[in-house]
Amino acid sequence: MVDKSYYNDVSYDDKLIEEIRLSNDLINLAEEYTKLKRSGKSYKGLCPFHEEKTPSFSVDPDKQLYYCFGCGAGGNIYNFVMEIEGMNFPESIKYLADRAGIVLPEKKDNKKYKKRKNKQQKLYEIHNLVTKFYNYLLTEKEIGKQAYQYLKQRDFSDEIIDKFKLGFAPNRWQAVYNFLNKKGYSDQIIEEAGLILPRKSSGYYDRFRGRVMFSICDFRGQTVAFGGRIIEDIDQPKYLNSPETIIYNKSRNLYGLNWAKQSIQQSNQAIIVEGYTDVIRAHQFGVDNVIASLGTALTKEQAKLLKRYADKIYIAYDSDAAGAQATIRGLDILKQAGLQVKVIELPKEQDPDDFISQHGKEKFLDLQSKALSLVDFKLKKIIKGRDLQQIDNKIEVVNNIIKVLAVINNKIELDEYIKQVAEEINISPKILRSELKDYLANKKSSKKSYNKKRANKDNKTKLKERLNENKSSYYHKTVEQLISFMLSNPKVILDVKQELNKEDFREKAYQELITALFKLDLEKNSVDLNQLLQQLESQKAKDILLKESVNNQEQKYNQAIINDYINKIKEYQIGLKLDKLEQKIAKVEQSGDDDRLMDLLQRYEQLLRGEGI
Ligand code: GTP
Ligand code: MN
Repeated sequence: MVDKSYYNDVSYDDKLIEEIRLSNDLINLAEEYTKLKRSGKSYKGLCPFHEEKTPSFSVDPDKQLYYCFGCGAGGNIYNFVMEIEGMNFPESIKYLADRAGIVLPEKKDNKKYKKRKNKQQKLYEIHNLVTKFYNYLLTEKEIGKQAYQYLKQRDFSDEIIDKFKLGFAPNRWQAVYNFLNKKGYSDQIIEEAGLILPRKSSGYYDRFRGRVMFSICDFRGQTVAFGGRIIEDIDQPKYLNSPETIIYNKSRNLYGLNWAKQSIQQSNQAIIVEGYTDVIRAHQFGVDNVIASLGTALTKEQAKLLKRYADKIYIAYDSDAAGAQATIRGLDILKQAGLQVKVIELPKEQDPDDFISQHGKEKFLDLQSKALSLVDFKLKKIIKGRDLQQIDNKIEVVNNIIKVLAVINNKIELDEYIKQVAEEINISPKILRSELKDYLANKKSSKKSYNKKRANKDNKTKLKERLNENKSSYYHKTVEQLISFMLSNPKVILDVKQELNKEDFREKAYQELITALFKLDLEKNSVDLNQLLQQLESQKAKDILLKESVNNQEQKYNQAIINDYINKIKEYQIGLKLDKLEQKIAKVEQSGDDDRLMDLLQRYEQLLRGEGI
């Protein structure tokens, strides 16, 4: 995680921030992203933050504020820059100061800021040195020979090794550690660079051992992190990456952007692949606009970063990965950022590296030219391999298709898709249209009903009242009373076992105790405390057991009281889940991902009805 306190440390004084704001014009800036037309006192246009066909984005030139009635984006010029360029506040200050020709004062007096800058500087230095160190071991030293041969055998040339700053981390416990130590870097800073890990006892060991090393660079080409691949089949993850540091933020970085950005800009398109080797192979064959997401789902920040360079994005993941739910969510994020997204289909079990190595650049560009639109890709994935003679299958497929079609705004486009897919699954377009209509109507009413229910829940339900009277201590009391009941009467354990599971008890110590209680031989009429005590490991669980059994005045079995406890625990769980869901729903509402919104709304309803807890 990025250390947010840093943003406060660099805060310039308020007067300067205001001066910079007033020296820029929001209309002028916004017009670089969308066309604006005067309409009464304000300017209107298509919202640059979400996709739409009719303008709901408006800017007030006097107040210098913007607001989108469609997606709810809004704020002043700083918000605009941060949101659209994916910058943080200090970055946006610099950006707008530059734009207005204002020179920012050096923050010489700010100690914390200087200290941090200094640290960043050191981390850059360290990464630079270590890149060279790993590269030297790979290319010049005996110890790197096996790794070098591995790369050669995979057909990576010396130029490639050089250009992509490849290296080798030897299988030693303290190679990098000693190297940097001798150069005078402290343990603390080397650890902060993510290159060493503390030993259990004392001292440190290298994070990367026995691995071919890839330098992860920022967009300027500075190494900011590493990825390492094993070369021997050992029982270890295939790839290991640096953790996030003050110079490396995963969700803002794309591997290869430094080498690809020029070509991305020129072609107005970027190809996103999964791995290091895919990027490198593509470059080796002259496909230069390629970057990698490094096996994780794409983020909003990455989408914004890309939007600076290109409008069209192609995804070239191996077929399993491309169809994965997390990937699709990533693609939706790109789409929502206003990028055109297409999916390149690779032959089964091949990644771009394999494909380009085997078939070359032209064949790959052929595949690219046949890439599917996101909608086509999703539809294909839904239909593929399903036996549509089976009516149940067909219904499920149609329902899923509807969800994909529901997000298409353009009527002509929608009509085309309906005709096409109706033919494909052998159903009349009319039916598809009417199903879609029902779905959209239903969605509207779902949202309404959600809002009503939420208000209801807030105002009335006992649940909220209960939760409000000091939620968690109330919960703990209930759990402990229930435990006490279980201890004095094994029959209660059976009741609890039927109604709750381990996860309903939100603390490790409770869970441990409950697990042990559930395991007891319940034929007997009393709980054997000593036997139970022996099964517990944590002191905390033991303490609870002792406390509750000591307190224990023979409690008579009372079904009503027990049910009440059980219900309270359930309600507490539901309450937490509802709170969480509400937060999620609020977020997804903003993002405009209707499909996901519907899922969440449905889940909300279910929870309120007490299903699927
Ligand atoms: P090669 O097998 O060397 O061709 O690499 P690859 O890029 O084809 O690997 P793969 O398709 O398995 O993974 C794609 C990307 O996901 C890699 O480049 C890594 O960035 C990431 N990845 C794969 N395996 C792991 C892992 O075990 N841990 C982590 N953190 N990342 C991984
Ligand atoms: Mn591969």
